[in-house]
Amino acid sequence: MTDILDLAFSSFVLIIPAYIANSVPVLARGRHPIDLGRSMGDGRRVLGDGKTFEGLFAGLFFGTLAGAVFGYPLHSFLLALGALLGDMLGAFIKRRIGIERGRPAPVLDQLDFVAGALIFLYPIYQPNWEQVVFIVLVTPPIHILTNYVAYKMGLKKYPW
Ligand code: CTP
Ligand code: MG
Repeated sequence: MTDILDLAFSSFVLIIPAYIANSVPVLARGRHPIDLGRSMGDGRRVLGDGKTFEGLFAGLFFGTLAGAVFGYPLHSFLLALGALLGDMLGAFIKRRIGIERGRPAPVLDQLDFVAGALIFLYPIYQPNWEQVVFIVLVTPPIHILTNYVAYKMGLKKYPW
């Protein structure tokens, strides 16, 4: 019992800066798209209006701050940066396969940011495989639940 609690606790402490970096942009109400409104040869936006500079910087700032208060500013900076770039890559892939901004892409929507976060963290810190499995399993339900709450609160246009 204490083993699983230790695993849960250490995994959450590890990934929290990524969660914060991924959720704060929703509150930023950004208006300046990172792709500068441009489209690609396929006629679709590079990233779309859901990825803004305001969201990127707010996520980076608060995600980094979350770890900095515990004395791990570099870890949390890498987690936040990786989370935001992973989310942008997710949006890029969605646009290329024809999924519009805000429309759901199961699995990709829930895990793009944790994958980015863990990859960016890896050079300076290697979580053990149990932590990675725990994070991959618990993030999708948490993501779905928090997005639904944000939707109900009127913060998000769609519940995913
Ligand atoms: N957001 C932002 N800048 C970012 C990331 C997110 O401004 N770099 C904001 C946008 O308002 C976005 C909201 O956070 O709508 C929720 O993010 P997400 O669900 O990832 O975006 P979607 O609107 O679903 O767009 P996409 O289909 O491109 O993922
Ligand atoms: Mg989305």
